Amino acid sequence: MHLKHLMLSVILVCTLVWIAVMMVLAYALFRKRRDPAEGKAGADKRATIIVSAAVGATVLIITGLTVASFYTTRLIDADGEVALTIAIKGEQWWWRVTYMLNGKPDFETANEIHIPVGRTVLLQLESADVVHSFWVPSLAGKQDLVPGRTNTLALRAETPGVYRGQCAEFCGLQHSHMAMLVVADDAASFERWLAGQRAESLEPAEPEPTAGQAVFLGKPCAACHRVRGTPSAGTTGPDLTHVGSRDTVGAGVMERTRGSIAAWIADPQTLKPGNNMPMVPLTSDELRAVSAYIESLK
Ligand code: CUA
Repeated sequence: MHLKHLMLSVILVCTLVWIAVMMVLAYALFRKRRDPAEGKAGADKRATIIVSAAVGATVLIITGLTVASFYTTRLIDADGEVALTIAIKGEQWWWRVTYMLNGKPDFETANEIHIPVGRTVLLQLESADVVHSFWVPSLAGKQDLVPGRTNTLALRAETPGVYRGQCAEFCGLQHSHMAMLVVADDAASFERWLAGQRAESLEPAEPEPTAGQAVFLGKPCAACHRVRGTPSAGTTGPDLTHVGSRDTVGAGVMERTRGSIAAWIADPQTLKPGNNMPMVPLTSDELRAVSAYIESLK
C-alpha cells in the first residue's frame, strides 16, 4: 500500500465512523421516550449490547489502521530498487559521509553528498555523540541520528539540482551551523563525480600548493584529517581528500573559496565557536600556502 492509499483509507474509515456517530446521536436526540412497559432490565440489556458492539468496532478499526500504517511505513523504505547506500554519521557539528560498496566502506567525504537523479538512495544514519536529525525538506522527512543505533532513510530526487539539508534536532552550540548539501546529478555527471571521489588526491603541481602540502604534513593537521594519497591519515575531523570539490566550508558556514578556507584555518573558533578544530599557529606565508593546497584538493 502506498502512503497515498493509506491516507485515503484512513480518511474514508474516519468519515464512515463520523457519519455513524452523527446518525446515532440524531437518533438519541429525536427518538421517542422509552416505552415504560419495556422495564429497566430490558433497557440495561440493550445498553450492554450497544456498548459492547461499539467497543468491539473501535478496537477492530484502530487495530486495522495501525497494522496498515505499520506495513506502509516499512514499505516506503523498501520502495524501489536501491541504487546506492550511504552511511552518514552526525558529529558535533558536521556530517561524516561514507559511500558504501557491496556493504563495505568505499570512500569517505563530509557535509555534501551527490546522488544520481531518479534513483532511490538508502541512507544509514548514525551518531557519534548526541542526537542529530537529518532533514532535507525538499526530498524527505526528518530522520533522527541516535547514538547506538542505525536508522534508515530513503532519498530520491526527481529533478537535478542542489538541495539544502539541515540538522533538525538541537545538538549543541553550533546546531544551526550543521548544514548538508545534497547534489542530484544526472547519471553521467554522477559517475564522473564518483570516479573523482574514489581516486586518491593528486600531487600538487604548482609551487604554492606544494609548499602548502609540506606545511600540512608537518603541522598537526595530519593528526586529525585524512588526505588519501599522502601520509595524512587522521580520522577525527572530516576527510579532506577532495575537499576542494565541495561547495562549503565548515558544514555550510561559508561558501568554499580560497579566502574562506584561509579564514577557517586561521581561526576556526571565531567562525564556528565550540567546534573541535584548534587554531594551529601559522605564519602568513604558511597560511597562504596551506590554503592553496586545500583549495587544490579537487
Ligand atoms: Cu546536529 Cu543539530
